Amino acid sequence: MADTYADAIVKLEADHDRIEALFEKVDKAEGDEKQRLGIRVAGLVKIHMALEEEFLYPALRGNGHDDKLTEGLVEHDTGKLIINDVLSPDTDTDSFGPKLQVLGEQMEHHHKEEEQDGKGVFWMARNAHIDLKAMLKDMEAREAELQAQVAEDDLPAADMNYVEVSESS
Ligand SMILES: [Fe+2]
Ligand SMILES: [Fe+2]
Repeated sequence: MADTYADAIVKLEADHDRIEALFEKVDKAEGDEKQRLGIRVAGLVKIHMALEEEFLYPALRGNGHDDKLTEGLVEHDTGKLIINDVLSPDTDTDSFGPKLQVLGEQMEHHHKEEEQDGKGVFWMARNAHIDLKAMLKDMEAREAELQAQVAEDDLPAADMNYVEVSESS
């Protein structure tokens, strides 16, 4: 894949913009088109979260901001609850639109937190001594792998970080 971004954070910010633009399209779409775009944006968010969880968040652990990192991962979990639901083959089509609406609002909030100047996770990354160009390369390689997996079959349901999902008895 072509290296089109300056570093990992520029790439993740571009993902945020792409995801938010797609949520706006989902909001305006109807019927099959809404379903198609909704599945696409849920998949994009899932891959974006996986890249952050595999590379960015672990690189920042132990720098004195662990609670902020955990908060971000709990926000991922709340998003994944909806993502796993809407990507499941037996999802309820009647509530598909409202679920996507809530997911879009949650992600917008989460993106703002990550991008927040002076305390967001992206700001932390810019101020930590980590090689964000090398991280970009690792992320792009992993992203290509995950995209190939989506095309071939599908990704397994996203794993939770902290939020336990209990089966109702
Ligand atoms: Fe995130
Ligand atoms: Fe993000």
